[in-house]
Amino acid sequence: MKISWFSCLLLLLVLSSSPWSTLADNHQEFIQCLSHSNQTYYTPSNSSFSSILQFSIQNLRFNTTETPKPLVIVTPVSESEVQQVILCAKKIGMHVRVRSAGHDYEGLSYVSEVPFVIVDLINLRTINVDVNDKSAWVEAGSTIGFPAGVCPTVGVGGHFSGGGYGTMMRKYGLSADNIVDARLVDANGTILDRVYMGEDLFWAIRGGGGNTFGLVLSWKIKLLDVPEKVTVFTLDKTLEQNLTKLIHKWQNVAPRFH
Ligand SMILES: Cc1cc2nc3c(=O)[nH]c(=O)nc-3n(C[C@H](O)[C@H](O)[C@H](O)COP(=O)(O)OP(=O)(O)OC[C@H]3O[C@@H](n4cnc5c(N)ncnc54)[C@H](O)[C@@H]3O)c2cc1C
Ligand SMILES: *[C@@H]1O[C@H](CO)[C@@H](O)[C@H](O)[C@H]1NC(C)=O
Ligand SMILES: *[C@@H]1O[C@H](CO)[C@@H](O)[C@H](O)[C@H]1NC(C)=O
Ligand SMILES: *[C@@H]1O[C@H](CO)[C@@H](O)[C@H](O)[C@H]1NC(C)=O
Ligand SMILES: *[C@@H]1O[C@H](CO)[C@@H](O)[C@H](O)[C@H]1NC(C)=O
Ligand SMILES: *[C@@H]1O[C@H](CO)[C@@H](O)[C@H](O)[C@H]1NC(C)=O
Repeated sequence: MKISWFSCLLLLLVLSSSPWSTLADNHQEFIQCLSHSNQTYYTPSNSSFSSILQFSIQNLRFNTTETPKPLVIVTPVSESEVQQVILCAKKIGMHVRVRSAGHDYEGLSYVSEVPFVIVDLINLRTINVDVNDKSAWVEAGSTIGFPAGVCPTVGVGGHFSGGGYGTMMRKYGLSADNIVDARLVDANGTILDRVYMGEDLFWAIRGGGGNTFGLVLSWKIKLLDVPEKVTVFTLDKTLEQNLTKLIHKWQNVAPRFH
């Protein structure tokens, strides 16, 4: 499949910046709480801190020394570790930023004006496909990697939370339209599935934006049959090259394609 990296880069141009913050020092207490759960975490004094932090920063405006840094980055490997981080954060009063693949335009998954920790879901990326049921459970740290969007590096944690548009949208709707269940950690560290959370909350987490209603651990998505042959191509045209005519034509032709 050919991906247009140019379109990916264009999207990075609409951005904003964020002011300084003063860091409070309750993170020792947080780390103490965390250490009871034997989790892997990184503080700024750890030599891996910068590379872990920078790894999924997609908006380079926030890859500077001026950008406010987290006090701790936690990289849970299981649902129960995520629960423990949330419980510690709640107990200590620590602000949490959740990061899946870091494509947030405003850096909201790894920048904050108040002292904060990052829960980075990099290690939660298991995908379980049920062929007979035509469904899959996808952990939130996975990247989309298929035409749910134009960029394969986008994370499902943020992408599905915001709706998610892609090349199959005209026929199948948004990514969010194809989600049939989810596992969410709420502010009390409780894991809720669709039945537990109820239809209102389930509706809200599919388009209402990430980091708003809780931490999504995984999504259950409907799978679609894909024809044996799929053709994907990118065509670059300017207005001078009669782009307008082309789009006009395409609008008539596209809906009639197989
Ligand atoms: C290069 C590029 C190409 C893109 N292409 C498309 C496209 O084709 N179609 C489209 O619809 N969008 C596209 N987007 C937008 C993208 O879908 C959103 O920015 C999305 O929020 C990114 O998700 P992420 O997990 O990678 O980002 P992150 O920065 O990790 O997260 C984004 C937001 O969601 C929150 N969040 C992340 N994970 C979770 C979780 N598990 N639970 C709760 N909240 C969470 C974060 O705190 C943050 O507020 C693109 C963005 C970029 C930078
Ligand atoms: C953490 O590790 C210690 C020592 O191995 C063990 O006793 C304890 O039960 C572990 N805690 C958790 C929450 O796994
Ligand atoms: C950095 O943190 C990781 C994960 O907790 C740990 O394994 C490693 O030993 C730490 N490195 C240093 C230099 O402290
Ligand atoms: C972010 O900044 C660091 C240090 O300045 C640099 O090494 C790294 O390459 C930058 N990341 C990207 C994606 O440019
Ligand atoms: C968390 O628990 C408290 C006390 O039981 C309750 O009042 C509150 O509504 C709960 N919050 C969520 C998000 O469920
Ligand atoms: C654009 O359309 C005009 C009018 O049909 C035609 O004369 C011209 O050659 C076209 N330009 C290109 C680059 O195809």
